[in-house]
Amino acid sequence: MAMAESSFAGSTPSGADLQRHFGASAADNITGYRSFEAGSFKFRRDEYFAHIQWPGGIHQMPIDVFLRALMRDVAWGFFYGTVNFDTVFGTINYYGEVDMFAGKTNEAFTSVGRDFTERFQSDELMATFKDMVSDWTNEGYDPFAAPQETGVPWGSKNGDNEEAISRERVTAKRMVGLPGDTPVRTDDNGFPVNRMFADVEQDQPEFNVEPGFEDEFSAFNLFSYLSRSDVTWNPSVCSVVNESLFCPTSEEFILPVEHGNDRCEWFLQLSDEIIWTIKDGSTGRYRAQVIAKAGDICCMPADIRHQGFSNKRSMLLVWENGSPKIPDLIREGKAPNVAVQF
Ligand SMILES: [Fe+2]
Repeated sequence: MAMAESSFAGSTPSGADLQRHFGASAADNITGYRSFEAGSFKFRRDEYFAHIQWPGGIHQMPIDVFLRALMRDVAWGFFYGTVNFDTVFGTINYYGEVDMFAGKTNEAFTSVGRDFTERFQSDELMATFKDMVSDWTNEGYDPFAAPQETGVPWGSKNGDNEEAISRERVTAKRMVGLPGDTPVRTDDNGFPVNRMFADVEQDQPEFNVEPGFEDEFSAFNLFSYLSRSDVTWNPSVCSVVNESLFCPTSEEFILPVEHGNDRCEWFLQLSDEIIWTIKDGSTGRYRAQVIAKAGDICCMPADIRHQGFSNKRSMLLVWENGSPKIPDLIREGKAPNVAVQF
């Protein structure tokens, strides 16, 4: 689920004109928040809601739901495929360009021609998204955190939380713990064990390396590593073998987006339980409920969207094939939507 550092320049297949209009207002006299514009989309927040407007439609989302989703879209660089903030609004990543839409993945809109999409250069839309999450996040509220571990986002403008929203996500070049790569988490480098993983053993594997291979070998306790994650629903690249990316993450409460894959995505439930709601990627029709218990493995097809619910903080290993060729191969019918055919 997390993108590797390398990406490539793609363009949206829509062929629509690139939108180059971006704007931001001064702070509102009543709420203290700024409003933002990107293309024909307008964004405004008040005490409880984000308000989104486009030619022919308006939409509201609770501000906590909107900020958690916006934070993921920013942190993940628009991610793989579709990030549905909810059933109406979202973005589709073409890796260099991005579509922003209202209703495009909801057949109640598409069936009557009321969906609306605009095309942007990714870095330009990202700048506005970053400004928005920065201005709309108040002091004490962390959109990465589980609800029990953070303050509330409600009310008029009250300070900010730049430290929380500008976290660097983990993207190992080879593997966590290797020389020069992202470090193993410890008490000393700011990653105490989370309250829900107090029972996770913290021992580390013992290994002895043949002289000359010190830069090539490492091992670490992944359960310990995940027990020390300070964020939820934020898969990070912890090992890389060519295009094969292991992206483990800790999960509590709700995946803040309905993620619409543009490729297959493997989920290995390492601890506890996540309930997944699976919907059709294009229409939003319900397709399945999957209850994943510790040790279960499932593979999300490339044509669905999924949202997870984790009551007890749990550990999930997401396994991605990061090849940039896959979305086109699937669109052209040259690669299947499923990883295995029996
Ligand atoms: Fe996903």
